Amino acid sequence: MPKMSSRLVDRPSFEMTMSDSRTVFELQDIRRTYQVGSEFVHAIDGLDLQIQDGEFIAVIGTSGSGKSTLMHTLGFMDSPTSGQMSFEGEDVSNIGRGVRARLRSTRIGFVFQSYNLLPKLSVLDNVLLPLIYGRQNSINKKELGYSVLKRVGMEHRASHRPSQLSGGERQRVAIARSLVNKPRLILADEPTGNLDTKNRGRIMDLFGSLLDEGITLALVTHDDVVAQYAQRRIRMQDGKIVEDDGR
Ligand SMILES: Nc1ncnc2c1ncn2[C@@H]1O[C@H](COP(=O)(O)OP(=O)(O)OP(=O)(O)O)[C@@H](O)[C@H]1O
Ligand SMILES: [Mg+2]
Repeated sequence: MPKMSSRLVDRPSFEMTMSDSRTVFELQDIRRTYQVGSEFVHAIDGLDLQIQDGEFIAVIGTSGSGKSTLMHTLGFMDSPTSGQMSFEGEDVSNIGRGVRARLRSTRIGFVFQSYNLLPKLSVLDNVLLPLIYGRQNSINKKELGYSVLKRVGMEHRASHRPSQLSGGERQRVAIARSLVNKPRLILADEPTGNLDTKNRGRIMDLFGSLLDEGITLALVTHDDVVAQYAQRRIRMQDGKIVEDDGR
């Protein structure tokens, strides 16, 4: 059994309070090892990282370097194999499933590399999924859903199913879904990978206005133009950060 050192573990009805510190995340010597048969894959291999409030970070690096694994770790989708991790000043290295789920759905907006839209739900219902913990009534939820779809130019497709959309349209819906719970931090894995220049510009403008609103943004990209928008670039290689121009 891992040592349960976090105060969060003892508080099932835990609600985050804003920390005084400007540090959103602090990671120390984080490792994530997968075992496939008798082979061990070190997807993250001793990574140290601090993310400050309001930062805009681009995570770059070759395929297989651990970018998505890092995003899943920051997004509380996946637990590190070892290492220390704090979020808003609280130790989250060993928190349980319930706390992780709550943090994920109340504090973080996540855009998956593969969109992860549910095929049987409409665009609007997909966008409303993160509100599962919210207490809004259905009319408020719908309004909220339409407002975020509008921000990505997809309100006219609210009743469509994901299969009836183009790849770029699905990507924009996935971005809308990440905004609906008004997160403090947005983690986006290749959010512009399927967009044409016009829509890429539109999404980058949207990210710009979210930053103005005080959101912290970390996105994975293979696109130099997108990476140049960021204030800080982190390059990953073999599960490690090998370059960080913000430090
Ligand atoms: N569930 C898993 N089981 C085993 N190995 C995995 C698993 N997920 C990822 N890996 C391995 O971990 C390494 C890092 O994967 P990751 O998906 O983080 O790379 P990435 O930098 O996001 O790549 P890409 O740019 O292609 O999306 C890869 O070598 C990958 O094969
Ligand atoms: Mg990836």
